[in-house]
Amino acid sequence: MKDNNAVKLFIIATVAAAALTLTTASAQTMGNAAMGKQVYLHQCSGCHSNKPGVDRFGPTLAGVYGRMSGSAPLHHYSAAMKAAHIIWNNKTLNLFLQNPRDYVRGTVMPYRGLRSARARLNVIAYLKSISPLQK
Ligand code: HEC
Repeated sequence: MKDNNAVKLFIIATVAAAALTLTTASAQTMGNAAMGKQVYLHQCSGCHSNKPGVDRFGPTLAGVYGRMSGSAPLHHYSAAMKAAHIIWNNKTLNLFLQNPRDYVRGTVMPYRGLRSARARLNVIAYLKSISPLQK
């Protein structure tokens, strides 16, 4: 009887560990949009609106996910951004946000970059959530 319980406990612990590994794995590749919104509010919203058609010092980020770089109507981009021809997706946004001026040489986005990979994943998930066609 005792042994049986030990076996049961072992199985429960193994299943729990496996579930935890799975959750961690998906959390590593999928950002959290709610947390990303906080990053946006603190680090991006001073220059970027999250509403379509609202231009600030930077272009609106509504709809940016899946959009061609330098293509928001109303915004006057740098020549570098207009010439970059980047489709903004997980990979390109990650590279750009890590070090904007390295990824798009000559960009006028005066932002040094988001160091935390987790914060980048989260803010990218948020950008996706405000790009309705790309959900
Ligand atoms: C101090 C102002 C400023 C801050 C802060 C800032 N940006 Fe920008 N951003 C700009 C400007 C200006 C541009 C246009 C750059 C150009 O034309 O070279 C830009 C361009 C971009 C682009 C390219 C958009 C397009 O339509 O091609 C993305 C994506 C972007 N920013 C994301 C972000 C995110 C995400 C943050 C916060 C983590 C952020 N930016 C913080 C000013 C800023």
